[in-house]
Amino acid sequence: MPRQIQTLMLKEHERISRFLGQLEKEIDNYDRTKINFNKFKWNLEKHFFVEEKVIFNMFVNISGKETTDTFHLLSDHVRIIGMINNVDEKLRKKIRPDLSRLKEVLTAHKDFEDHYFYPRLDERLTLDQKKEISERIQEIIPG
Ligand SMILES: [Fe+2]
Ligand SMILES: [Fe+2]
Repeated sequence: MPRQIQTLMLKEHERISRFLGQLEKEIDNYDRTKINFNKFKWNLEKHFFVEEKVIFNMFVNISGKETTDTFHLLSDHVRIIGMINNVDEKLRKKIRPDLSRLKEVLTAHKDFEDHYFYPRLDERLTLDQKKEISERIQEIIPG
């Protein structure tokens, strides 16, 4: 029995939150912040890759014209990556970044996926589709 996509992604969202938490915790230490930021960014990029290339594509395929949710989620991703690039820019100039807005947007995005998007996706996917998606997710991110 393949795992529910929501279970995998909820766990993955918690991992990303921990990377952000670590970044916030050591924000006053420039060297640690650079390391923490790179880890956070790398993991978030992998996460978005999985969502965009595997999950959203599959959802668009099964739901036909129902693309409003994925469109909304994709535009969030673009916005979040823009914010990440701003933080990157600040760090290059050795300016202490303000993470509060990024955290707010990321939390709202994650909540929508956890409470609405993924539970609904799980209801709609066949067992074979779930199996295919969960295998691909686990190729990219640790299970
Ligand atoms: Fe997302
Ligand atoms: Fe996500």
